[in-house]
Amino acid sequence: MFSAWEIVPLVLLTLDAWDFVKLTRSRCEVCGQAVSIPHKWTFYFLIAVGFWNFVGAGVFGFLINLPIVSYYEVGTMLTPNHGHAALMGSFGMLALALTVFALRQVSSYDHWKRMEKLIRVSFWSLNIGLALMVVTNLFPGGVL
Ligand code: HEM
Repeated sequence: MFSAWEIVPLVLLTLDAWDFVKLTRSRCEVCGQAVSIPHKWTFYFLIAVGFWNFVGAGVFGFLINLPIVSYYEVGTMLTPNHGHAALMGSFGMLALALTVFALRQVSSYDHWKRMEKLIRVSFWSLNIGLALMVVTNLFPGGVL
């Protein structure tokens, strides 16, 4: 029950983050200039929380949750498939969102310009890496 309900606040968090991402693409109503949001990458990590929450906890969690499925799958790679996608995907990305938020707060504009490139690479490598781990290894291994 608690596992299943966990999804609700994480979905709300993602909707909120999505509103902020939309804001970063908008223009100031008064001056017409593009709105500058310093915490863009924090919100990208929060969007990743929503994505992995849906895939890792929602799809892969419920997939192994039926008693009859659970009876046969315990001890197979479908458990770490769900465990990695849900735990790193939801709470790992959440921790990174907070870390990036703190890093941005303590960085000067120039320093951040250099760091932002590394954060972009980290964001995409972490997400693509986790996806490859699930798609090419844990999920097919679990099914087999
Ligand atoms: C963000 C939310 C979630 C996280 C972080 C999470 C994390 C994990 C982890 C790490 C394990 C492995 C535990 C172990 O090997 O000892 C696990 C097992 C399990 N989870 Fe989740 N989970 C989440 C949500 C869910 C949801 C929504 C469901 C289904 C309603 C679910 C169903 C299960 C089941 C049935 C197992 C046991 C599988 C087995 O032992 O074969 N989980 N979860």
